Amino acid sequence: MIIAKKHYTSIWYDNKKDRVKIIDQTLLPHKFEIKELYNLNHFIRAIFNMEVRGAPLIGVTAAFGMYIASLKDSSTQFLDSAVNFLIQSRPTAVNLSWAVNKIKSEYYSVAEDKRSEHILNLAKQIRDSDINACSSIGDNGLNLIKKMYEEKKSTINILTHCNAGWLAAVDWGTALAPIFKAKKHNIPIHVWVDETRPRNQGFNLTAWELMHEEIDCSLIVDNVGGHLMQHNQIDMCIVGTDRTTLTGDVCNKIGTYLKALAAYDNHIPFYVSAPISSIDFDIKDGIADIPIETRDPREVTSVWGIDEKNETKSISIIPKNAKAVNYAFDVTPSKYISKLITEKGVIDPNEKSIKKLKL
Ligand code: MRU
Repeated sequence: MIIAKKHYTSIWYDNKKDRVKIIDQTLLPHKFEIKELYNLNHFIRAIFNMEVRGAPLIGVTAAFGMYIASLKDSSTQFLDSAVNFLIQSRPTAVNLSWAVNKIKSEYYSVAEDKRSEHILNLAKQIRDSDINACSSIGDNGLNLIKKMYEEKKSTINILTHCNAGWLAAVDWGTALAPIFKAKKHNIPIHVWVDETRPRNQGFNLTAWELMHEEIDCSLIVDNVGGHLMQHNQIDMCIVGTDRTTLTGDVCNKIGTYLKALAAYDNHIPFYVSAPISSIDFDIKDGIADIPIETRDPREVTSVWGIDEKNETKSISIIPKNAKAVNYAFDVTPSKYISKLITEKGVIDPNEKSIKKLKL
């Protein structure tokens, strides 16, 4: 997408330097800084500390991490340990294990001196296919928005949670892709942006992305959505997913489940933009089987922003020594999801439809 008249993606390979470049998302929206990753630890830290985040981007980053690891040592033993370290860096989003296991399934049959080149090509392919998948999700989701606009004939109000825009993928994003495409088709759109505590990806990243694309949006704290739905101010919800089960349960940023419940109660369509790379075909019960990441409680007990001198600062917002727990994701059972928007079409969130995506 475009920032200051320049086209950016969230990650790219710099051929000349043989390094990988990312936009450091921990600094947005206050600072736009590009960071270079050139050893395995850089990649593990970038994923763990959320300099890169969002399920598709984590997967692509880990794939390039495997390439950089192979430059140091392309033995099977070293690469297998890189796979394990990367997978552990964030447990919930299945794209991470999907990407590194895809690479692992190939390097065994490649001679050690050819592995780096092979892994780099695979990482580039994974990146390119993510861009294409997100663009198709955008087209498929656009049809849903178009249809609603033809009936309503006035601005479509869409609620989204967390950040599932281009920063969370490589380009376009998942949940925001239909919105970006709707804007390009001149459909009037207004987006309700959930704050998304504790890390505020909605305010920090989604609002920033939408504003750069000149899409009308309003920022709300996390508990407002239900009220807006009761007062007919939301026409549809679109969110992303970190892991979708074979049966259509969706694990996404904490708070998604409560939005889905409120949407269900108010008969508002609740769509999940789900690239096939985020579907875990091996599990059926999202609540029982998806590992939920718990993070540093300091993300809950403090907030981060800029002060009046334009300096970034983190401040505590709790009584001294109060305990906090920081669950990063929750699971929305498939019965609360209207449709999954995938790159292969808009489908029902059930085993019969999801199984066909694997073919
Ligand atoms: O913790 P984050 O910021 O990585 O969580 C991101 C989300 O929950 C997104 O909604 C999800 O990864 C889908 S991204 C296209």
